[in-house]
Amino acid sequence: MTETITVCPTVELPPGGRKTVAWEDMEILVVNIDGELFAIEDRCSHDDGDLAEGEIDPERCAIECPRHGALFDLRSGKPLTLPAYKPVETFPVRVDGDAITMEVD
Ligand code: FES
Repeated sequence: MTETITVCPTVELPPGGRKTVAWEDMEILVVNIDGELFAIEDRCSHDDGDLAEGEIDPERCAIECPRHGALFDLRSGKPLTLPAYKPVETFPVRVDGDAITMEVD
């Protein structure tokens, strides 16, 4: 069942910002790229690298796993480069009044 959770107040996640939230047994990374919000599972599908520490490529809308360099599309969670070949989860995220919320299921 889909559940809506609060990520943080909007002021805490300005453009260029990132925030990690815990939901059940998962960590989810939420990033703000030039005012657009994306939420992606914070665990690389290759070998569990911590994507939250990765470099963001705003032009490709992607994040690079700091462990072995796989690049993931922040919109779809699909890997754009090896060594990862499986996608990671992404979640709908939006601004709801003064808060950023995310749908999880
Ligand atoms: S753990 Fe992410 S590329 Fe290997």
